[in-house]
Amino acid sequence: METFYGYDDLIKQFFARGQGHLFQHWNTLSEDERNSLFKELKSVDFSLLATLQSLIGTRYPEHEILEPAPYISLTARTDEYIEALSIGEAYIRKGKVAVFVVAGGQGSRLGFEGPKGCFPIGEVSGKSLFQIHAEKIVKYARKYEVSIPWLIMTSDANHTATSEFLHNHRNFGISDNDLYIFSQGMVSSLDMEGKLVLENPTKLFKNPDGHGGSLTALKSSGVLAELMGRGIETISYFQVDNPLVKIIDPVFIGAHIIHNAEVSSKGIPKTGPDEKIGVFVRYPDGRMGVVEYSDLPEKQAKETGSDGTLKFLMGSPAIHLFQCAFIEEITSGGSINLPFHVAKKKLKVWQKGVFSEIEGFKFEKFVFDALPLAKKSIVFEMNRQEEFAPVKNLTGIDSVESARKLMSNLYKEWLRNKGIEIPPAVAVVEISPLLAVESDDLPAIVLPNEKKVYLT
Ligand code: UTP
Repeated sequence: METFYGYDDLIKQFFARGQGHLFQHWNTLSEDERNSLFKELKSVDFSLLATLQSLIGTRYPEHEILEPAPYISLTARTDEYIEALSIGEAYIRKGKVAVFVVAGGQGSRLGFEGPKGCFPIGEVSGKSLFQIHAEKIVKYARKYEVSIPWLIMTSDANHTATSEFLHNHRNFGISDNDLYIFSQGMVSSLDMEGKLVLENPTKLFKNPDGHGGSLTALKSSGVLAELMGRGIETISYFQVDNPLVKIIDPVFIGAHIIHNAEVSSKGIPKTGPDEKIGVFVRYPDGRMGVVEYSDLPEKQAKETGSDGTLKFLMGSPAIHLFQCAFIEEITSGGSINLPFHVAKKKLKVWQKGVFSEIEGFKFEKFVFDALPLAKKSIVFEMNRQEEFAPVKNLTGIDSVESARKLMSNLYKEWLRNKGIEIPPAVAVVEISPLLAVESDDLPAIVLPNEKKVYLT
């Protein structure tokens, strides 16, 4: 083996673990570059590396899935619905709820330059996803006469750009005291042989550690402690790419409180066995969980009851409520040991002196793997048309195109519910969250007979 004066001990460990390729370019590096690479590699956790390597080629343990999770349906204005609404509203008014958007993903399918939250999803207004979420918070805060903290999780890849975007737009009306932006952890990606790869000559190739990293990041950033200090008890969690999400849903919150749940999750009936959405399950010990669509065996995905309905019907749109005390409990050791899931992806790496695209593996934790840790957890059925418009791609399924259509459809529905006439020329409607977050908020208005209408 070569000698790497002054750096031998660490470098020997890498060679001993089959990772000596990371030093092939050692002789071409300056002293400063060697120090940077050395510093980077000193942080490698070999036992984590061994865990990641062991995941390559493994499959989800099928035997663990026994039953679909039970769920609560409060869609009609029943007594239970009204009770949940009133309990939820009182709880929000007391300032016990914070809003948490996870926005650390790389948004690779969308192919948008910059953080996904900056994408201008508003078809008429051009408002970004971040602006839409922020304005909903402003609206709810006015409605319930309370300040609502906004938590945004970013990653190394988009933290600075996200912070600057919000700063340049004065947080879209959210006060600095109510805004918490913090980064999630990163994890090494591996090549097809399970070897570490470099992003550039002195930096390992890493990816954000998945939305499952959010609970640990809440704790390690100190944000959880701050929230609890200001009396927040419940965190309303959602993904940045759903412009229709009801970021604060009093009925959902009320049901969560009534059931004394540590975690609650919204569920939507799957459109069919092939819909790419995780499903809610109940494990043998009675605890709830979600199985990702790619881990649900085809046979179970297609299984139906006697009435032809899918057995594993309830899908997860990634909308949850977490009790702060629950997050505090499961992160008391500093982090939570959620499992990593592995996915084959294209990686743009630096290898043999050049940048190239290779096939490799990325590892991510999923937030729903925290569900089985809860002693009490409920699944709450929601209406897909009213609150789910995922923006994953530019066109096609779960795209900018489909989300804009769903937004316009919902806003038209709100107008109809309110008895407001939609003139014949109107094809697209957009409603500012500052005006309305639900049909009841709409004032009596007369729409112009124009193709695209924006109500503010
Ligand atoms: P997706 O899994 O859809 O990933 O994230 P993505 O990064 O947005 O898009 P692709 O897969 O690269 O095309 C769902 C939600 O979880 C967040 C994303 O920002 C999005 O809100 N997320 C994902 C994180 O916050 N961190 C991660 O490490 C991964």
